[in-house]
Amino acid sequence: MLIPQSSPRIALKAPFLSIWLSLSVITDCVVHPYVYPREAVPNDTLRIIALGTGVPSIFKSQAATSYLLQLGSNERNILFDVGTGSIANLYATRVSLSTIDKVFISHAHSDHITDLAPLYALANGRPGPLQVWGPSGASEATGIAAIVEGLRQFLAWDQEARNKVMGREKGQPQNAIIAHQFDHNVTNQVIYEQDGIRITSTPVFHYATPGPVALRLDWNNISITFSGDTIPLQSFLDLGSGSDVVLHETVGPRNSFHLQDPTTRNILLNHTSQSEVGAIFQKLQPRLAIATHLSINEYSIVPILSGIRSTYPTGPLAIAQDFAVWDVSPSAVSQRKFVPVTTSAGYEFANPCPAQHDLEVDDDGDWPRAAVACCAAAMTGA
Ligand SMILES: *[C@@H]1O[C@H](CO)[C@@H](O)[C@H](O)[C@H]1NC(C)=O
Ligand SMILES: *[C@@H]1O[C@H](CO)[C@@H](O)[C@H](O)[C@H]1NC(C)=O
Ligand SMILES: *[C@@H]1O[C@H](CO)[C@@H](O)[C@H](O)[C@H]1NC(C)=O
Ligand SMILES: *[C@@H]1O[C@H](CO)[C@@H](O)[C@H](O)[C@H]1NC(C)=O
Repeated sequence: MLIPQSSPRIALKAPFLSIWLSLSVITDCVVHPYVYPREAVPNDTLRIIALGTGVPSIFKSQAATSYLLQLGSNERNILFDVGTGSIANLYATRVSLSTIDKVFISHAHSDHITDLAPLYALANGRPGPLQVWGPSGASEATGIAAIVEGLRQFLAWDQEARNKVMGREKGQPQNAIIAHQFDHNVTNQVIYEQDGIRITSTPVFHYATPGPVALRLDWNNISITFSGDTIPLQSFLDLGSGSDVVLHETVGPRNSFHLQDPTTRNILLNHTSQSEVGAIFQKLQPRLAIATHLSINEYSIVPILSGIRSTYPTGPLAIAQDFAVWDVSPSAVSQRKFVPVTTSAGYEFANPCPAQHDLEVDDDGDWPRAAVACCAAAMTGA
């Protein structure tokens, strides 16, 4: 589990890397808070940033599913899902929305797609269109192409108005959103291959509705396989075979009380339990197993961990929480959690302060002191 230690906020960074780089086993309770971002991704490293790890009912502590993958020193950014609340957490990383133009959607449940809206609407200066890869549905209306078209329509007024004030023309790349729809029902299908990055999909089963897929990314001899939402399936084991990181959903904990209510029962039985996810990790033996889609609180964490550990007793395990950061290189895995900046302070407007000020943090840990001082000076004309 990711529990920040009670140590004071720390103004960085490099020394931490060395502490964690040698980890071969991630225990259940390790993580030091650190301040993101603007910390370069090493050339050979896949960085995974948890932007959303919770359930459809979002709370301040957990947005809905979204993972930012940063590939190597060029920090090529890829999003796996973009659930409700996740873009607030993306802002907290200070990774600019305009640097994200590739989103891969596991299925079109709201808790995996709704923050496509701000990602599309609010980026300014994205060099190309926002591209969304996603599965077909049972009908044309439920495939990703129709869904993206619906989103474009939903934000038609927004974009017309923003175009005027930003002085940009309709049809400029930052106004565009493109869907790449693929057949959901093809096993081990390569849906993207470019610049040494390969993304593969395979069908999974969720809510008895055609569409959901699991996704695997391969790059630089490192791979991550993400279940989306599903019951335990052989198709996932096949896709995830040999994967360095296995990121799998698990919902619950469930008990006999939950299973009495027909709706709750249906929901739970259309997801993966903790003992089931543990069995999947045990079969795949990844270098890093991450359990996601859980509501984490002081009551749930004990049954969650004991459920997973009942079938996956000793392997490396992380229970995903928002703001976790994993660096995966061919030789090492590290895990940290960053301290999010929680206020905007006008950051998104033309910022007169040099970027490096963002790395300094005030005593409360929530806003860079130097940046505040600089902005205050700019405002008073000093
Ligand atoms: C990482 O790769 C980039 C180009 O892809 C290169 O410019 C840079 O020097 C490399 N850095 C290291 C430490 O190898
Ligand atoms: C998916 O493909 C399998 C095997 O080709 C087929 O039996 C099944 O009916 C398909 N399901 C859907 C929802 O298209
Ligand atoms: C999943 O949900 C569907 C629809 O409510 C239900 O028929 C089914 O029994 C549930 N469980 C599984 C494992 O499919
Ligand atoms: C991947 O690993 C193979 C064998 O270990 C090696 O030959 C190849 O150069 C590696 N590729 C990259 C991109 O590192």
